[in-house]
Amino acid sequence: MKIAVTLGTRPEIVKLSPVIRELERRQADYYILHTGQHYSYHLDRVFFEQLELPPAKYNLEVGSGSHADQTAKILSGVEKILGEDRPDIVLALGDTNSVLAAAIAATKMHIKVGHIEAGLRSYDRTMPEEINRILTDHCADYLFAPTENSKSILLNEGIPNEKIFITGNTIVDAVQQNIDIADRQGDTPRSLNLVPKEYFLVTIHRQENVDNPERFISILEGLDIVAEEFRLPIVYPIHPRALKRLSEFNIKPRNLTLIEPIDFLSFLQLEKNARLLLTDSGGVQEEACILGVPCVTLRDNTERPETIDVGANILAGAIPETILECSKTMVLSRTNSWENPLGDGAAGFRIVNIVMEKVDDQHTCNRRTGVHRIKSGA
Ligand code: UD1
Ligand code: UDP
Repeated sequence: MKIAVTLGTRPEIVKLSPVIRELERRQADYYILHTGQHYSYHLDRVFFEQLELPPAKYNLEVGSGSHADQTAKILSGVEKILGEDRPDIVLALGDTNSVLAAAIAATKMHIKVGHIEAGLRSYDRTMPEEINRILTDHCADYLFAPTENSKSILLNEGIPNEKIFITGNTIVDAVQQNIDIADRQGDTPRSLNLVPKEYFLVTIHRQENVDNPERFISILEGLDIVAEEFRLPIVYPIHPRALKRLSEFNIKPRNLTLIEPIDFLSFLQLEKNARLLLTDSGGVQEEACILGVPCVTLRDNTERPETIDVGANILAGAIPETILECSKTMVLSRTNSWENPLGDGAAGFRIVNIVMEKVDDQHTCNRRTGVHRIKSGA
């Protein structure tokens, strides 16, 4: 039984870490195939080091590029590796170009695909992530849905019940496995001259927000008036895409402390001690909900409606006054005592159990029928 775990970006490394740890614990025959979509130290290697993950067996080093260019390079790179290594199943998590390309490559080679974090929908097809999610879900053989809601979305799209497994989201495992370690490793807020619960934390990096100058400026104006209203520092570990756009559009944010993207343990500490998180990140919306910190989502929609339903999150879009109003609502009137709806911290364990069982069944079936998979390029 051989398992290929494919990943390519920061959130995939974080959220697959519990699955990789579980595979390690069981001494499973698996390997990591890194697409190289993220390659800067602070978006990639720092997470392997800090989460003590084994190195990738393969790194395609595809780097940055247009959607088509990046996806095509990953597709042909993954196909070549899978052709040589012949795993029984490919696991991919989330909605990036790396996920879509790995899923397409594997499914065309008749290699089973397990999609972790299946069934999320923003219903906004202008987002590249939405296209990636839908197509990956419809390629996948096993769909690991984090919640009941994500399962019902998949059923409504015609995906058969027997392919879908509710497991919880592995981000809960990742937070639970690392929060105490994060607390022991130092005092990140203090090292940035921040007082616990006396600062706001921001991340903005999504294409629809930062590649559109009017929208990016509008969000930054919103943050500016939030800082003035609350008279609290706002710290923004800035993703390289956003940093590049600030410079291209010649935008100079006021009232924001820009820092480099930081490692996961330091970021967890910063999140936990923040008064409020403002973000367009999927992972940060989830972590806020898990850590009991209110969140303002700087988007018009979210594929994580469970966080809104429990009162942990609110959609603010990009209009400055709405961002201020939503921040006030979340800081002043929420109790921060919601139940975490995203899982119990055992998602990685469940996923690995199901994968092992399914691959075993597949071997038995193949032995009976004499079926062989086709080779790459066939
Ligand atoms: C990708 C995902 C997005 C996810 C994000 C996680 C897609 C379509 N988008 O967006 O869903 O939320 O990762 O962070 O897959 N860059 C660097 N160093 C790196 C990687 C990128 O400097 O290691 C810069 C390059 O200028 C690059 C830009 O960031 O052009 C965007 O990178 P890319 O991988 O295309 O998309 P992300 O914005 O990171
Ligand atoms: N993160 C981090 N350092 C940072 C910003 C984010 O470690 O400076 C982590 C965060 O804890 C979360 C993940 O990166 O687990 C989210 O990734 P990102 O926001 O890039 O992508 P998305 O979740 O939107 O796809």
